[in-house]
Amino acid sequence: MNVLLFKLSGSILQNKRILSLLSEIDDYCKSIGAKYIIVHGGGASLSTYSKRLGYDPTFDTEGNRLTSTEEMTAAIHILAGEIRSNLVHLCKKVGIAAVGLCASDGNMVEATTIQQESEPSSKSSKGMHTGRIVSCNLRLLDVLLTNNYTPIINSIACDKRGKSLNINADDLACALAIQYRLEQLVFLSDVPGILAQTAPAPSTKPAPSTKPAPTTKPAPSLDRTSILDLIEKKIIHSGMKKKTRMALHALKHGVKKVLIGDYVKDGDLTLLLNHKRGTTIHE
Ligand SMILES: Nc1ncnc2c1ncn2[C@@H]1O[C@H](COP(=O)(O)OP(=O)(O)OP(=O)(O)O)[C@@H](O)[C@H]1O
Ligand SMILES: [Mg+2]
Repeated sequence: MNVLLFKLSGSILQNKRILSLLSEIDDYCKSIGAKYIIVHGGGASLSTYSKRLGYDPTFDTEGNRLTSTEEMTAAIHILAGEIRSNLVHLCKKVGIAAVGLCASDGNMVEATTIQQESEPSSKSSKGMHTGRIVSCNLRLLDVLLTNNYTPIINSIACDKRGKSLNINADDLACALAIQYRLEQLVFLSDVPGILAQTAPAPSTKPAPSTKPAPTTKPAPSLDRTSILDLIEKKIIHSGMKKKTRMALHALKHGVKKVLIGDYVKDGDLTLLLNHKRGTTIHE
């Protein structure tokens, strides 16, 4: 079975072109006789919701969200509730038979907390519900794909005892891509690709911040060495740091290329897939 995987940023739901994007994914896959899986994020919506509830979204230096017990409930509400349902209903509008799934459904993913390993004696519940993937099982996905359903998967997982864990959606996309031995993995984010250069300092006034502001033109192609260099220089940071680290992990385990881009107008996905838009990461 020819399978493609698209990881959609949670912010895609605010994108006015979302229906065009879903149709373009569906048309493209049908045109090449492929089935496809969608993995979605939702970090920005979860942070907004958590702040509204009085929680303080916290991340480690690698860009992992440190999910507390209260935030886990919020994560389930936003990722497995709101975003999952909205995406499935948008799919319905364009004729895609989607099934919204948690990573834990059908034993698809088994995870473990990252905190057990790093801070066993910590009293804070911060990070207690942050998971990392231990193993993936493709059985449920195969059943769905074989029967022409499109799985739409969120990052709500659990450990082997059933404790709820929030894993990283980029990590999930990469793990599934590796398990499916995919040639390529496509990330649709809220940026046109990886911004790889710092902007020149304005000549008239001093630079407002010590952190270099990236220019708006993404690098068309980057290899492992350049990605690691951009991370080192902090030109790649926050969510993109996690995404690119996971992309390098996927490349190391057999995925040939990882594409990162956004969707602004009809046809942008085709341009991304043909390397005429966005950034391609390769070894
Ligand atoms: N060099 C860079 N080039 C592009 N974006 C960068 C760079 N460094 C940091 N970023 C940030 O990374 C963000 C993308 O990662 P983020 O985790 O926010 O989105 P996502 O993974 O697509 O969505 P979600 O987390 O909802 O799944 C961009 O919005 C940008 O602010
Ligand atoms: Mg992200």
